[in-house]
Amino acid sequence: MEERETVVVVDFGGQYSQLICRRVRDMNVYSVLVPCTASAEKIKSYDPIGIIFTGGPLSAFADFAYKIDKEVFSLGVPILGICYGMQITAQSLGGNVVPAKVGEYGKVEIEYDEHPLFDGIDKKGHVWMSHQDFVESIGKDFKVVAHTKNTPIAAMANDKKKIYGLQFHPEVVHSENGLKIMHNFLYTICKAKGNWTMNNFVSEKVAELKEKLKGKKTLLALSGGVDSSVCAALLQKACPEGLICVFVDHGLLRKNEREEVEKVFRDQFDINLITADASNIFLKKLKHHKDPEKKRKIIGKQFIKVFEKEAKKIGKVDFLAQGTIYPDVVESGIGKSAVIKSHHNVGGLPSVVDFDEIVEPLRDLYKDEVRKVGFELGLPENIVMRQPFPGPGLAIRVIGKITKEKLDILRDADYIFREEIAKAKLDKDIWQYFAVLTDIKSVGVMGDHRTYDYTLVLRAVNSVDAMTADWYKIPHKILDICSNRIVNEVKNINRVVYDITSKPPATIEWE
Ligand code: XMP
Repeated sequence: MEERETVVVVDFGGQYSQLICRRVRDMNVYSVLVPCTASAEKIKSYDPIGIIFTGGPLSAFADFAYKIDKEVFSLGVPILGICYGMQITAQSLGGNVVPAKVGEYGKVEIEYDEHPLFDGIDKKGHVWMSHQDFVESIGKDFKVVAHTKNTPIAAMANDKKKIYGLQFHPEVVHSENGLKIMHNFLYTICKAKGNWTMNNFVSEKVAELKEKLKGKKTLLALSGGVDSSVCAALLQKACPEGLICVFVDHGLLRKNEREEVEKVFRDQFDINLITADASNIFLKKLKHHKDPEKKRKIIGKQFIKVFEKEAKKIGKVDFLAQGTIYPDVVESGIGKSAVIKSHHNVGGLPSVVDFDEIVEPLRDLYKDEVRKVGFELGLPENIVMRQPFPGPGLAIRVIGKITKEKLDILRDADYIFREEIAKAKLDKDIWQYFAVLTDIKSVGVMGDHRTYDYTLVLRAVNSVDAMTADWYKIPHKILDICSNRIVNEVKNINRVVYDITSKPPATIEWE
């Protein structure tokens, strides 16, 4: 098996750190993100072919600035410092960083000198800058290789030691040829072979899992979401005889969802799938509650209980599989954020299953890589490209108290909305779209009759990581079709509104 090449991306807290990591992988080189507090020893343990320092929010000459273990410069591994990463490199190796008189933000014209980093690109171009400090002088083994009007040292190079710095952000789309520069770093300077492909990943992972899971029992909680679905397909390919999947139907799923999951995994993939129909118990537990946090907590707790019951029937297993992915495990980011909503996930399962070991076959992958793996394994598009769906399901999209009737109303309306978005071919353009049933009733008129019925909300947003989101501008004529169909075809809805709030200040879900 070919050795996996790795690039270590050292995170100085910049907003594009994850993006840099993903860009490297898109260029077929595996990358890991480590915090800037990682020691040179730790970085070396990855046996990297290259190291990239990200940008960061602090000032390189401030006392509290994030520093780097200077030993990293002696590892003999090529280094590329981006923005703050360049400043910290310059400062550590005999240069100087000062506050600029004029900061540079946004698109800036740049001129490149002859250098392997800039092979194959025009000598003049535009790049994305975002800095208040700049490198005033560089160490004696460095030379300047690019400049802009206000930044005389916009890129620097020490060719002997293969240490480089870019004041601009090559990773963002606004930097023309930025990706080509990153590509040159990886392939010309680090001599990457480019063996990180999802095809290779699948064959390596299946071989590894075959070995590990042979003759053993593995249990997986399958939700029908992208991660657990891909995990199931991968495990099934490696060890079909030992895999048991449990799918909990909490009665809070979208229209036809359970049937679709059963069709794909039981019929098509021939997986040993147990469906636990627990809708009645979930509804009963939720009956008197309208507080969003309370609802979330009840569902989380009940989910574990149902799973525990199924796990007891199955008995002892060797492995508990989880669809954990890289953003869940990456030990990076600086600082802690406030809990806005208690997210429901499978975190509590290990305590109720009798197992020896956890297996997480996707923990090295980003979401888009998980999707590619899904396609490699032959999963259908409606599963692989599925939009995010919250663990508590429709319970947090029925505002206030939940009843079976309200859930059915929402299911029908949501189905129409999704159908029309797909018909208009907007489904690939919108990151997440769904309906919310409010507990507001208002007066309407249908035929000659007065109605007094529910108001339904349509919500559609675009986002990259769900941390921020923009409301999507669905064309009026599509909204018109959705509204007409919903009030005509779904009983008990007489008013449809469109949510035009971004996140922040709103969140994507209503509860
Ligand atoms: P909010 O509403 O916090 O949602 O802006 C951000 C994203 O997370 C999804 N979401 C959840 N996903 N368990 C999940 O797995 C949850 O409890 C949960 N709550 C919200 C939401 O659909 C959106 O994509």
